Amino acid sequence: MLRIVCASANAHKVAEMKRMMPDGVELMPRPQDLSEIEETAPTLEGNAIIKAVEVANFCSQWALADDTGLEVDALHGAPGVHSARFASDNATDSENRELLLSKMAHEEVRSARFRTVVALVSSKGDMHFVSGVCEGSIARSESGVNGFGYDSVFIPSAGDGRTFAEMSDLEKDVLSHRGKAFAQLPELLARVFGLPTT
Ligand code: IMP
Repeated sequence: MLRIVCASANAHKVAEMKRMMPDGVELMPRPQDLSEIEETAPTLEGNAIIKAVEVANFCSQWALADDTGLEVDALHGAPGVHSARFASDNATDSENRELLLSKMAHEEVRSARFRTVVALVSSKGDMHFVSGVCEGSIARSESGVNGFGYDSVFIPSAGDGRTFAEMSDLEKDVLSHRGKAFAQLPELLARVFGLPTT
């Protein structure tokens, strides 16, 4: 069994990452004694690297980090890399959603996308990336109770009009940015570790 340490501290995100890991790979929890990692890079890729490098070095193991942003066209790509801190530095998901809906209140163009970059990094400096994009739109109000973050205000274009928060885990994984990024992991792990792709 190949063990990779998860660099994310977001329990919802970790749950999604765990259920999408390919067979033969165990996603180990982020060490609890590792302090919070500041995401100071101006790009998703940069922040994924910061998180994965810190954890890989701390554990002397391979680490996997996901950094995700919501890009809203009417807001010129915001909140983007600042999605977690949209309303304030310590904003809750609900405060971020509320601010987004208020900024979008009078906008007719509601197109948006989630973008995820996943970094797989070793303590020796090896670095690999996969990424995924999910096109969609911002709802006029919140719907649904599943998922996390902006799920209750995001309607994926490839779906049936429901928000991610109205979908089952499996329905979200099939359409989501993270699902698309993780679908490329078997091929990447096969290349890096010689794991079978099936
Ligand atoms: P980060 O990648 O953990 O920095 O997340 C950035 C922000 O996007 C946070 O506010 C998350 O709650 C939110 N977010 C990340 N992934 C998702 C998702 O799959 N659905 C909805 N919101 C998400």
